[in-house]
Amino acid sequence: MSGAFPLSRTTDPASETDRRGILAAPGFGRFFTDHMATAVWTSATGWHDRRIGPLAPFSLHPSAAVLHYAQEIFEGLKAYRHADGSVWLFRPEFNARRFARSARRLALPELSEEDFLTSVEELVRADEAWVPTADGKGSLYLRPYMFASKAFLGVRPADHVTYSVIASPAGPYFPSGVTGISLWVSTEYTRAGRGGTGAAKCGGNYAASLAAQTEAQQHGCDQVLFLDETGGEGGLEESGTMNLCLITAAGELVTPALGTILDGLTRDSVLALAHEFALTPVERAITLAELRSGAADGTITEVFAASTAAVITPIIAFKGRGYEFTIGTGAPGKHTLALREHILDIQYGRTEDTHGWLHRVL
Ligand SMILES: Cc1ncc(COP(=O)(O)O)c(C=O)c1O
Repeated sequence: MSGAFPLSRTTDPASETDRRGILAAPGFGRFFTDHMATAVWTSATGWHDRRIGPLAPFSLHPSAAVLHYAQEIFEGLKAYRHADGSVWLFRPEFNARRFARSARRLALPELSEEDFLTSVEELVRADEAWVPTADGKGSLYLRPYMFASKAFLGVRPADHVTYSVIASPAGPYFPSGVTGISLWVSTEYTRAGRGGTGAAKCGGNYAASLAAQTEAQQHGCDQVLFLDETGGEGGLEESGTMNLCLITAAGELVTPALGTILDGLTRDSVLALAHEFALTPVERAITLAELRSGAADGTITEVFAASTAAVITPIIAFKGRGYEFTIGTGAPGKHTLALREHILDIQYGRTEDTHGWLHRVL
């Protein structure tokens, strides 16, 4: 059963001066809008108490299951303002379906696609003033999430669950232009194994990635690259928050096949767009040995990461224990930059949306 998310407006919104100040330099994930969406699920009643209300802290019993057993999932998507002032989401149905898959994996109740979309849309409508202006750079980042709010100790699925959406204005990911990043190839840590939660967007995956990310930074790299559970010369998986894509001299756009990685919306969009860039999309396993030799002999010409937050991020260098290498000349590749511009053009309504990916909210 789905339903409406009625709005009770806050009596204490941010002042216009404060909001304008925040929107002038929002950064990422630092400021939150005036409202939030919530809904509650119990095994007896199902989903109920849907609402958009003032942004406010939760009151949780210290035994709330999420605090102990990490029964939690989340999503991330953005609202974009077009030049005519209208506001749009990019493929939100993809996020709704992935949220339902994550819920099944974490033994949480599924939220219908309709409830997911309504909650996100109504929150954007309530907080429209927080959607950055149409300069083609900023967006309103939306964070739907669900957690076990039942007060009990014991390893079993909670029968009281809370769903919520919060929103945070986001500035350009690369404020001073798109530069490439470097990845640390982790052989110490893996992110996922067969039968695990790698394909789910659950908080525990990110908690487990933090030590690897810290290790990457200690080695002077921006992000970690996880290998599959075979480690060493095993298959490439993804970075902590982004999917990995390679371009070959033979004109292929290759990305690791799904299974233990997140089914990224940006990855999926890039695969769908490949033909428009005269690239053949290929989903298959890629070993570290293949990446290293391909970078050395020039058969791999570009590497990039794909994610909602950063769209397309050029990857120009890799480092692991006892080696480092660059891709091409060490500068962002031409396909990488062209794909990035094209996706941004669709999202900001600057080119025709031939795939029907945009979803109007306002
Ligand atoms: C582990 C991981 N892989 C890939 C992605 C990219 O997914 P999407 O393009 O849907 O944002 C994300 C970001 O959500 C992520 O956290």
